[in-house]
Amino acid sequence: MHAFSYQNGLLHCENVALTTLAEQHGTPLYVYSANTILDHFTRLDAALAGIDHEVAYAVKANSNIAVLRLLANAGAGFDIVSAGELYRVIKAGGNPAHCTFAGVGKTRDEMIYALQQGIYCFNVESEAELRYLNAVAAELGVVAPAAVRVNPNVDAKTHKYISTGKSENKFGIDFDSIEDLYARAAVELKNISLRGLQMHIGSQLTSVKPFVEAVEKVKPLALRLKEQHGIEFWSIGGGIGIVYHDSLASGNPSWWQQQSADTKPLTIEDYGSAIVPLLKDVGLKILLEPGRYIVGNAGVLITSCLYEKKGSAKTFKIVDAGMNDLIRPALYEGHHEIAPLKEQQGELVKADIVGPICESGDFFCQDREMPDFQAGDVIALLSAGAYGFAMASNYNTRPLPAEILVDGSSAKVIRRRQTLDDVLAGEVAE
Ligand code: LLP
Repeated sequence: MHAFSYQNGLLHCENVALTTLAEQHGTPLYVYSANTILDHFTRLDAALAGIDHEVAYAVKANSNIAVLRLLANAGAGFDIVSAGELYRVIKAGGNPAHCTFAGVGKTRDEMIYALQQGIYCFNVESEAELRYLNAVAAELGVVAPAAVRVNPNVDAKTHKYISTGKSENKFGIDFDSIEDLYARAAVELKNISLRGLQMHIGSQLTSVKPFVEAVEKVKPLALRLKEQHGIEFWSIGGGIGIVYHDSLASGNPSWWQQQSADTKPLTIEDYGSAIVPLLKDVGLKILLEPGRYIVGNAGVLITSCLYEKKGSAKTFKIVDAGMNDLIRPALYEGHHEIAPLKEQQGELVKADIVGPICESGDFFCQDREMPDFQAGDVIALLSAGAYGFAMASNYNTRPLPAEILVDGSSAKVIRRRQTLDDVLAGEVAE
């Protein structure tokens, strides 16, 4: 379910017209649909109904505490990558006992905080980290629950910056050396309890094949670790891809580029029916760490057109959002559909939509056919709910945008727009 569609010529999020939100709160503005987030969570949960499982939402995708609270209330666990994300989960009312802590570079302070809060498990990415965690836990007089991340050396066939499961990536431990590490840890590391096994092969996967390949490859290892060390869970990571093309709930404008057949994302039901049979008989609790799937299509970034500039080679539509607000096109060649808030007919033009930042990479699309919107018109960049605001920065001393959560006919500010004083807070001139 995606709750963005045109109703009476105006783009809506659920029952709220985005024009109203743009007028009330200004632009650039992130808007999320609460019911889309919940629907995605519920559908994933249902697709896995056949196995003992827990969905640990990857907080990094969208970490606003109102979003985390929605998911905590729905029964989600959380996959965190920093003490900061754990702090957010706790503020949002989430339970640390349902948190896994991922990432290759956890610091001593982060380990101490997570141990004190009683997280479910550290997902460890190197032998050095495991030994360090053991030492920190010993100092505190506690035993740290740990899983090691296995790198299954599977090609996720996604953008190279978001592929993680190949031997040349920095993530996890080689498949061939992992059992030896568990064996040594069991003997030598008295302040570690080996609780699980983890893997994650990449993000925005649009086919079920790499997931199946990785699960089939790692399953015998998971079974042996259960046998030898009594591990209780296997996290198969996140990575479920979403629709970036043609992404309105209904009434997609005819001028959008059609998505080619080979990039059609998998449905959650396809995902479930491919992996559930493989996992049914492992006798381990299966954890999933989806981020993008839960929130990606549940958010848009609204931005106003400031100027049009017709150069000799190109037409530029300059908007008030920049790559600091949404970096995905610049960093991953990410595609986000453009939808004017007021449905527009008439001639199409080929243009680039660019932001105000002093970088050539500051664009949202290039050479795309679009309605000829003009200064003062407002557009939405769709499917911006994941890794949108979460990756935003103050580059060029631009205050972070506000965020709104829509639920039915109500719209709540879940983060106010930053002021310049917010941006400069903590700086000292002399
Ligand atoms: N688990 C681990 C260990 C991860 O590293 C990630 C994402 C996830 C789960 C969640 O993956 P998801 O289900 O969202 O695909 N900023 C990039 C994506 C980076 C993903 C990083 N790791 C983008 O905007 O495409």
